[in-house]
Amino acid sequence: MIDTHFPLVDLHRHLDGNIRPQTILELGQQHGIELPGHDLDTLIPHISAVTKEPSLVAFLQKLDWGVKVLKDADSVYRVAYENVADLCQDGIDYAELRFSPGYMGHFNQLDNNLVVEAVIAGVEAGIKAFGVQAKLIGILSRSYGTENCQQELDAILSHRQHFVAVDLAGDEIGFPGHQFEQHFNQVHRNDLQVTIHAGEAAGPESIWHALQHLGAQRIGHGVNAAADHKLMEYLATRQIPLESCLTSNIQTTTVAGFKQHPIVDFVDAGMMITLNTDDPGVEFTTLSNEYHIAHQQVGLSQAQLAQIQRNGLQAAFLSDSERQALI
Ligand code: HPA
Ligand code: ZN
Repeated sequence: MIDTHFPLVDLHRHLDGNIRPQTILELGQQHGIELPGHDLDTLIPHISAVTKEPSLVAFLQKLDWGVKVLKDADSVYRVAYENVADLCQDGIDYAELRFSPGYMGHFNQLDNNLVVEAVIAGVEAGIKAFGVQAKLIGILSRSYGTENCQQELDAILSHRQHFVAVDLAGDEIGFPGHQFEQHFNQVHRNDLQVTIHAGEAAGPESIWHALQHLGAQRIGHGVNAAADHKLMEYLATRQIPLESCLTSNIQTTTVAGFKQHPIVDFVDAGMMITLNTDDPGVEFTTLSNEYHIAHQQVGLSQAQLAQIQRNGLQAAFLSDSERQALI
């Protein structure tokens, strides 16, 4: 399914959606944090979304136990480091790891700058240890409101040189994109690239808004572009990459089943599709598994998957020379 002679990349992977169950247990014990389970068997049902969740917001709550055990900078460093180890384990050559400093610090009132610095240190150490390439995308968590997002953005911009882009994630229905236009004006002024979660819980209008008012260069999910043929044409003509995440879309009930996923129509329409994981720790998936699903359950051909793998490298927030160095 995967061309092992070409770089494998994951462009949509939440570092705070990929905290190992064993790490949650150990950090919980270390910091005296009461967990809903005392071993893997009893904890996993509370942190996994393998059965469909009733909504995106319910799915997102599955991530909470992972960040609830982040009591200090060392805990954040550990999960960042392990995220890079997991890339290596999954055979990924390059990933853009995204995280929300405000969300990671929310339950234990960690300062945004402390979180950002611990993630940077953990990822840098992981890159050295495992020989995998990774860059960082800062997330503004829309579910916590505009003021919180501004504080997240301030911390990201204070460490500007360590980021390639900024994303908007969380509750797309409750906190529509128009509330965040000022934030993304500031992102563009600071010369960072932009990817936006859009058309996942909300309809095509959310994708149009992300493109036209937030300056999105890539779209996270974008599933609901399927309801607007003009939008599909727009995305295809301009080759604006979609970061597709198949298992996530089923578990959030964005799509009813793999057979109903519009990715096949998107590929047929000539859109620039990439395949990614989203929150592997909560979904219990890997990128290799997503390629398998795309072939065996969704029905994309080997040739289409080879193109998708190439699109991943093309759509990465890398310079041409950085891209070339990966090949
Ligand atoms: N959508 C929105 N926010 C998120 C997601 C998602 O799929 N995963 C983690 N945060
Ligand atoms: Zn996501």
